[in-house]
Amino acid sequence: MPDRILIAPSILAADFTRLGAQIAEAQQAGADLIHVDVMDGRFVPNLTMGPLIVEAARRSTSLPLDVHLMIVEPEKHIGAFVQAGADRITVHVETCPHLHRVVQQIREAGARPAVALNPHTPAVMVEEILPFVDMVLVMTVNPGFGGQQFIPETLRKIEQLHTAIVQRGLAVDIQVDGGIDLLTAPQVVAKGASVLVAGTFVFGAPEGVAAAIASLRAAASQVRVNI
Ligand code: DX5
Ligand code: ZN
Repeated sequence: MPDRILIAPSILAADFTRLGAQIAEAQQAGADLIHVDVMDGRFVPNLTMGPLIVEAARRSTSLPLDVHLMIVEPEKHIGAFVQAGADRITVHVETCPHLHRVVQQIREAGARPAVALNPHTPAVMVEEILPFVDMVLVMTVNPGFGGQQFIPETLRKIEQLHTAIVQRGLAVDIQVDGGIDLLTAPQVVAKGASVLVAGTFVFGAPEGVAAAIASLRAAASQVRVNI
């Protein structure tokens, strides 16, 4: 079991008319990271935000900004995102034929590198990069949209990556993204996930952002007590 769980609300589901207030609310409620979903309409069938929003988020919080790049040729934009205030940058293995180089580029630019896998991409695709990244992101939905249903078959991949990380004696976090709620959070944590991205569950919660984050943390911690 991971010894601590980080919660990363995804602002994709936030109210953009009051983005600063929503991010501040998440920070006050104990969020650990702010997750920013960057989409280009090419790698994924949706367009969202760029460095301008990262820069606005940077002025709204002291929390680390966790920037998830769902874009082709991410190497062209890493400098701009770091300059805008990104602390962590995740690129997709499916977009990087020269992943090792891109990971180094992220670190040299001053951010913490991570690599993401689509639901169909096997764990072995990132095993050789594990010593060079701080985090692996297992997509638990197909990237592109918030509010989709968790794909349970991805649990096996979380477990495989957890085993690979432990066997190599590495300190790499496993992040999960997509369909994370009170039901799925304990399942992914039980397999070794330590960073939970949640968009709809946090910003769409009728009971409010603070209550949603508290209940998610409680659900994730419960697993560790029971096992
Ligand atoms: C999907 C994004 C996710 C998304 C998650 O492509 O990478 O970060 O915001 O949204 P929920 O939590 O609503 O599934
Ligand atoms: Zn994301």
